[in-house]
Amino acid sequence: MRVDVYFGAAGIAPADVHGREVAVVDVLRASTTIAVALSNGARNVIPFDSADEVITRAKSFERGEILLAGERKMVAVPGFDLGNSPREFTRDVVEGKSILFTTTNGTAALIAAQGAREALVASYVNFSPVLATLRAALRTGTDVAIICAGRDRQFSLEDAACAGRYVKALTARSADVALNDAAQATLLVEKRYANAFPRLFREAEHARAMADAGFADDLAICADVDAYPIIPVYSERQITRLGPERER
Ligand code: MLT
Repeated sequence: MRVDVYFGAAGIAPADVHGREVAVVDVLRASTTIAVALSNGARNVIPFDSADEVITRAKSFERGEILLAGERKMVAVPGFDLGNSPREFTRDVVEGKSILFTTTNGTAALIAAQGAREALVASYVNFSPVLATLRAALRTGTDVAIICAGRDRQFSLEDAACAGRYVKALTARSADVALNDAAQATLLVEKRYANAFPRLFREAEHARAMADAGFADDLAICADVDAYPIIPVYSERQITRLGPERER
């Protein structure tokens, strides 16, 4: 069995995800925000590459059914209802709504995962339930791919650390899981940071940029391991919360 990691959506080929169980990691902040939104009762989250696509698609809904959400350079897209801070996605705001969502890296990574056997949204806040699903996939002979959304669609430290936590847990009980070089590298990053989130966020470029932009309070939410223990699944172009019948 294989567990492969990919840094950034840009280099993902259809064959990298085809038939695999895929986890898309964007710790800061898209994966975290999606987990928070669905935990707080959002009907679904629909990812888009661009703000223009969000605006076009919004026309096919009743206005009261949806929220337009997302960021560019970390701040809310002008005219949208919400940005990409998990603190905005409270129950009273999102319950029952479809969230049309675009972010700089996270939604692109999700879209790159189309063609997977199943694509999950993964982060620290929903680490354990996603891990259980990835483990179950490996047990049934399905290879795993972890896509790190990254920063500017390249490597980012916090996504690598989170991916490394998954890789470590997935390989802990099994010697016959093959890893690509990127997956091996995430183990080194995980070893350096483990649960030392203040250190990780001091050293990670995107975390420092977020703090400079006034989003320091989001960092603690994004590092709150298993605070939102749900399994968001991306299927048929929308992300929904896996029902209890499939929770493991
Ligand atoms: C992204 O998709 O690049 C991020 O979620 C950016 C952010 O922190 O808002």
